[in-house]
Amino acid sequence: MKQPVHGGNLVWAAAQIGCPVSSILDFSASINPLGPPPSVLTSIKTALDSLRHYPDPQYTKLRKTLSEWHKLPSEWILPGNGAAELLTWASRDLAAEKHTYVMIPGFRDYWRGLEGFGAKIIPLSFPWPTSDGLNLLDHCQGTEAGIIINNPHNPTGQLFPREALLPLLERFKLVVVDEAFMDFVPPSGQQSLLPWIEAYPNLIIVRSLTKFYSLPGLRLGYAIAHPHHLQRWQRWRDPWPVNSLAVNAGIAAIKDEAFVQQTRQWLSSAYQQLLTGLLHIKGLEPVPSSVNFILVKTEIPSFQLQQELLQQYRILIRDCSTFETLGDRYFRIAVRTFEENHKLLEALSNIFTS
Ligand SMILES: Cc1ncc(COP(=O)(O)O)c(C=O)c1O
Repeated sequence: MKQPVHGGNLVWAAAQIGCPVSSILDFSASINPLGPPPSVLTSIKTALDSLRHYPDPQYTKLRKTLSEWHKLPSEWILPGNGAAELLTWASRDLAAEKHTYVMIPGFRDYWRGLEGFGAKIIPLSFPWPTSDGLNLLDHCQGTEAGIIINNPHNPTGQLFPREALLPLLERFKLVVVDEAFMDFVPPSGQQSLLPWIEAYPNLIIVRSLTKFYSLPGLRLGYAIAHPHHLQRWQRWRDPWPVNSLAVNAGIAAIKDEAFVQQTRQWLSSAYQQLLTGLLHIKGLEPVPSSVNFILVKTEIPSFQLQQELLQQYRILIRDCSTFETLGDRYFRIAVRTFEENHKLLEALSNIFTS
């Protein structure tokens, strides 16, 4: 089986070592280990009765909940089958521009959508870690272009200040900002472009409930943009991309303030535990992150390290050699529970001292 280009491919990992999927400890997908919230699981059970009906194609209730949360009219919000589905439609819009800048290294799925619609892609490598995003512009030419940005950025964990992205909105015909990980940033530090959405019809923001609420198997995300984008996407796509279970789960998740607080508390200390532990292992160089994953430079080639961790400890990390420009010396790990982080640190420590 080929090396996967996304984290979280447990079927691939289990096949590598001939063990059941359930015995692998997954650090490769950046998912909140505290979830899914019990309130969400209850809401899914309640929704089982609704399976005999089609979902509301307008997703009125879910949109209303999201619109109250973000203090925006419902027409500016479109739920989708994960952020991935909405990135597909954003790619169709981007493909209509003369060319599209895509940050490298970056989330590989942007290429799928853009290539699928025949977009002319210009890879945009940026110096990281960097304290601002302005230098992105130094590498772009022309105005007849679109750009796709990821903030906070996967895989570096870099958070671009909102003000640094403003020049992109002034310069590009279409700016797509993937904020799939923004919920992990404490509210006082969040750099979402949401406050500017009504002022910039060329801005599309994509969000995900997958990571923060630990729902990758359910598939739920949403886009926020001027209604003229979203109405067009609604005409292009199938009538019921979000199923009824995901609708109920999304509403329950957004209302679960206690889960948000619990996650924030866990993350600040579990992140410190993991970062400090990594800094103590000779041969590893973690890159400080704004979110729930950490990119780490390794003296042992990342694929070899991934295989050793899998075979000896049944731990899966994300080998980052499939990210452009990172080469074979980086891996990415999610921040998990204290006990799981400890297990990983011990395994890494054993490998690097042997
Ligand atoms: C940066 C980024 N955006 C979007 C996604 C896709 O999110 P979803 O599960 O909501 O489709 C991922 C998944 O790994 C991601 O890393």
